[in-house]
Amino acid sequence: MKCSIAVGALAATASAAPGLVERADKKIRQYGYPITKPTVNATLLKADITRDNLVAGAQQLEDFAYASEERNRFIGSPGHNDTVYWLKDTLESLDGYYNVSLQEFFTVAQINGTINVFTVDGAAPPEGSYLLFDYSASGNATAPLVPVSNVGCNASDYPATVSGSIALISRGTCEFGLKSALAGAAGAVGALIYNNVAGPPLQGTLGAPPRPEGDYVASISISQALGAGYLSAITGGANVSATIDVLTDIRNISTYNVLATTNSGDQENKLALGAHTDSVAAGPGINDDGSGTVGILEVAKALSKYKVNNAVTFGFWAAEEEGLLGSTYYVENLAASEAAKIRAYLNFDMIASPNFVNAIYDGDGSAFNLSGPAGSAEIEAFFEDYFTGVGQNFTATAFDGRSDYGPFLDAGIPSGGLFTGAEENKTAEEALLFGGTAGVALDQCYHQACDNVTNLDLGAFETHAKAIADAVATYSFSWEGFPARNTTATKRSVVRSKRTIERRHGRNKRVQPLEK
Ligand SMILES: *[C@@H]1O[C@H](CO)[C@@H](O)[C@H](O)[C@H]1NC(C)=O
Ligand SMILES: *[C@@H]1O[C@H](CO)[C@@H](O)[C@H](O)[C@H]1NC(C)=O
Ligand SMILES: *[C@@H]1O[C@H](CO)[C@@H](O)[C@H](O)[C@H]1NC(C)=O
Ligand SMILES: *[C@@H]1O[C@H](CO)[C@@H](O)[C@H](O)[C@H]1NC(C)=O
Ligand SMILES: *[C@@H]1O[C@H](CO)[C@@H](O)[C@H](O)[C@H]1NC(C)=O
Ligand SMILES: *[C@@H]1O[C@H](CO)[C@@H](O)[C@H](O)[C@H]1NC(C)=O
Ligand SMILES: *[C@@H]1O[C@H](CO)[C@@H](O)[C@H](O)[C@H]1NC(C)=O
Ligand SMILES: *[C@@H]1O[C@H](CO)[C@@H](O)[C@H](O)[C@H]1NC(C)=O
Ligand SMILES: *[C@@H]1O[C@H](CO)[C@@H](O)[C@H](O)[C@H]1NC(C)=O
Ligand SMILES: *[C@@H]1O[C@H](CO)[C@@H](O)[C@H](O)[C@H]1NC(C)=O
Ligand SMILES: *[C@@H]1O[C@H](CO)[C@@H](O)[C@H](O)[C@H]1NC(C)=O
Ligand SMILES: *[C@@H]1O[C@H](CO)[C@@H](O)[C@H](O)[C@H]1NC(C)=O
Repeated sequence: MKCSIAVGALAATASAAPGLVERADKKIRQYGYPITKPTVNATLLKADITRDNLVAGAQQLEDFAYASEERNRFIGSPGHNDTVYWLKDTLESLDGYYNVSLQEFFTVAQINGTINVFTVDGAAPPEGSYLLFDYSASGNATAPLVPVSNVGCNASDYPATVSGSIALISRGTCEFGLKSALAGAAGAVGALIYNNVAGPPLQGTLGAPPRPEGDYVASISISQALGAGYLSAITGGANVSATIDVLTDIRNISTYNVLATTNSGDQENKLALGAHTDSVAAGPGINDDGSGTVGILEVAKALSKYKVNNAVTFGFWAAEEEGLLGSTYYVENLAASEAAKIRAYLNFDMIASPNFVNAIYDGDGSAFNLSGPAGSAEIEAFFEDYFTGVGQNFTATAFDGRSDYGPFLDAGIPSGGLFTGAEENKTAEEALLFGGTAGVALDQCYHQACDNVTNLDLGAFETHAKAIADAVATYSFSWEGFPARNTTATKRSVVRSKRTIERRHGRNKRVQPLEK
């Protein structure tokens, strides 16, 4: 089996390098062991990337998602596990070209959650004036509302009467999770946290448990108007009682990064690149980030036909949607001596958005005033040259660490990559540069059930996958002209404990400090 795969793979290069392939075939026939491969070449590697293969890969991921009731590839789901095992099997089938491993880690994640009942004095508040906090505890209680002093960031803000009651707390100053945990520590059976600005309630998260202050209670986010109404009734001497019946499914999930490093090439001067394998729970995640996953997988498959001068590590990260957890786990468990061998990291998260832009991470900081370690500017320039070469326009996207390159930047590793856009609307200027429709989201199916194969712009997918091939061929051939690693460079500042939760709205989506 392995042998025939190798021959088949080589046959595909026949048109480009017939002499070599004939000699290679002959060697296999004669000696039955792997032959000397042609040296990697950007022209050839790009030509190996086909739209048909990209679509087939995306379809495979959709099939994995749709094979189960969940219809997603959320970490720990059948669709995600199948994705992980498929990547491992595919990379292992490449005739020993890669050292493939699974890196297991654990993460607490909310699978789903729902408010079954929320009534105050027997009546349901208006639709849209309340929402469940992510990571709320489950709970089912009817109890009086007890206002908390100040903004509930301090245990002393919680009066003794909170015990057995539902704490009524203002938004502000500290994380929602601290408020819910302090309410729990004070014996509350639930918490209502009201907004401190007018309008709808905040769609917020408590952050994954556990917290040192205590267990969360059932927690609902309510509008400022609702909170003000209850407070004034209570201040006026009334007893206000609420029923909260919420159910959340929160689990400690075991999941895996898939790592594949070329066995050949200079292991002291590696290129690393990555994409994330998990989707949100809402859908199959085919643009986000099936596109990046399949893009780098196709390049990994094609690369195995060639000899590289510099080693390449492909990282297929899990739990990006839960806060860059897989890539963070990888980087944090990498010895400093190993991290120092990574000359650059390239990230590909969403590369086939239906109303796409060709956005390059702003490694030189020229557009967003946030630059990366030395080398990041060169990576940005590399991709600018690529788009210029294929006659397409490009733009910059903020280099703010909100995808899996964040942990690499934190470790001082030069980084870069491509992005075709999420929920942000296309501007008129972008429509001039890239076509498509101004005033419509770059990906209207972002984090939704409709993010399936039909959501992809196949032209963008192919262009960006070939860009990956170009970069991998170039850097695995030579680091000439690329700055040496400065391993004493100051790390970018991070507030790691807060960088754990996905923000729901924002250009690059990704993680944001916990909202208060
Ligand atoms: C790469 O391969 C193409 C096609 O065989 C050839 O024209 C080109 O010169 C090669 N480039 C390098 C840098 O070897
Ligand atoms: C997915 O894999 C993890 C790790 O092996 C396992 O704990 C989990 O049960 C699997 N999920 C399903 C749905 O099989
Ligand atoms: C293969 O990769 C694993 C994980 O990175 C590493 O522990 C192991 O030493 C590697 N094996 C070889 C032969 O390089
Ligand atoms: C939550 O997911 C579980 C399976 O993971 C399912 O049994 C349950 O019905 C779901 N609950 C809701 C409210 O969607
Ligand atoms: C919540 O408690 C009420 C009253 O005890 C009960 O009728 C209801 O079935 C409970 N709901 C759930 C989901 O257990
Ligand atoms: C919490 O309240 C106590 C008592 O009023 C006070 O001593 C302490 O400084 C407060 N802590 C914070 C973080 O505000
Ligand atoms: C509120 O409830 C308390 C305790 O149950 C009771 O003593 C008090 O009379 C009630 N006040 C009103 C206005 O109903
Ligand atoms: C999740 O499970 C793993 C393995 O049993 C354990 O090491 C870890 O502490 C657990 N995490 C939490 C938050 O319970
Ligand atoms: C995109 O434009 C629509 C229609 O003008 C608007 O409703 C929506 O809020 C905009 N979305 C974003 C993320 O700005
Ligand atoms: C690039 O942008 C310009 C407007 O600045 C536009 O005229 C041109 O058609 C665009 N090129 C492509 C290939 O879309
Ligand atoms: C993919 O999503 C589209 C848009 O929501 C939907 O019409 C189509 O049925 C989905 N495909 C499959 C195979 O479910
Ligand atoms: C490496 O980084 C440190 C800290 O940012 C800086 O002082 C030093 O000049 C850098 N060295 C080189 C060779 O760029």
